[in-house]
Amino acid sequence: MADFNTIDDLDLDGKIVLTRVDINVPVENGRVTDATRIEKIVPTVKDIQARGGIPVLLAHFDRPKGQRVDAMSLKQLVPALESALGQPVKFSDEAIGGPAKRAVADLVKGDVLLLENTRFYPGEEANDPTFAASVAALGQIYVNDAFSAAHRAHTSTEGIARLLPSAAGRLMEAELRALDAALGNPDRPVTAIVGGAKVSTKLELLTNLIEKVEHLVIGGGMANTFLVAQGIEVGTSLAERDMADTAREILEKSAGAGCTIHLPVDIVVAREFAANAPSEVLPADQCPADAMILDAGPATVAAISEVFAASRTLIWNGPLGAFEIPPFDAATNAAAQAAAALTRDGKLVSVAGGGDTVAALNKAGVADDFTYISTAGGAFLEWMEGKELPGVVALTKG
Ligand code: 3PG
Repeated sequence: MADFNTIDDLDLDGKIVLTRVDINVPVENGRVTDATRIEKIVPTVKDIQARGGIPVLLAHFDRPKGQRVDAMSLKQLVPALESALGQPVKFSDEAIGGPAKRAVADLVKGDVLLLENTRFYPGEEANDPTFAASVAALGQIYVNDAFSAAHRAHTSTEGIARLLPSAAGRLMEAELRALDAALGNPDRPVTAIVGGAKVSTKLELLTNLIEKVEHLVIGGGMANTFLVAQGIEVGTSLAERDMADTAREILEKSAGAGCTIHLPVDIVVAREFAANAPSEVLPADQCPADAMILDAGPATVAAISEVFAASRTLIWNGPLGAFEIPPFDAATNAAAQAAAALTRDGKLVSVAGGGDTVAALNKAGVADDFTYISTAGGAFLEWMEGKELPGVVALTKG
């Protein structure tokens, strides 16, 4: 795995530590509805303080595209940060220039300062060296704790690492170690679950995975496209018929790569996409013309559970069915519980990530039993696609 500094490797005492965090959390009517990402940065902030450093937080919020957009000010997150950190958090309306310098100059050990949304400045996304120099001038050390933004080559995720001594924060460290254990250097056999609606959005991911894992379980709407590719009728189900050739190619390549693809052997079908819609379980090749597939059936779950039991490592992205509406969350819940039980028994390393996946595993009540659940969405996908993440590369030594 890549070699990078951690907080332990740098002398932070008395230094201003520019700390890139990802606190891009969901907010409704001014209230944070899921503070997970905020809670996850606490160990890094506390460890910097324990080493005498003064954390100055750099972060983006939403996509203001280089403009000041009041609704996207980071100021609204100060109360949630204060409650997670258990201390006051100072705020600067600017991320560079005189006001930011003055806010930094006022800091003493024990303080935390949050700078305004870096994406209010066009130089952030352009990774502009002049903007990077202005931000870097505020501190002496750079710590990146934002794995979930590491797929962006922006000033605060990449450019600054070239200007200051740099280290990974605790969350970044944990993400990189977990992802290495799952796909970089895993115990084999490895099983990947890839679910979600569309093959077209996960093509690179599937192509990369068939080279790296022994078993690939395909679920959700994507599985319907693979069924169509095998000449199976899927009624009114969500399916990308124009991707059937691509799906066939993936099936062929996987055989050559020593990867077994597992598709549903039975399906749960309904006539309407609604919670508690009347449903029935049928063999995968018997979807009625007027019905849609909304979940995998119990025989599929049993088969997946056997694959898990024969695996040492599991990497999970995407639900197996329409997990938002019961009872079509049954396969996702049951498979997640099977993975959680094996993990608890020490038989499986289980790593999951991607927006819907975390929601699905939380709903299944197993999030705490997985070995690691990533806070990343797009970055997790790009990493599963085998891409280098600029924010990680910038931290890498040598
Ligand atoms: C995320 O929410 O996945 C990260 O914060 C990155 O956000 P972005 O997709 O707007 O770059």
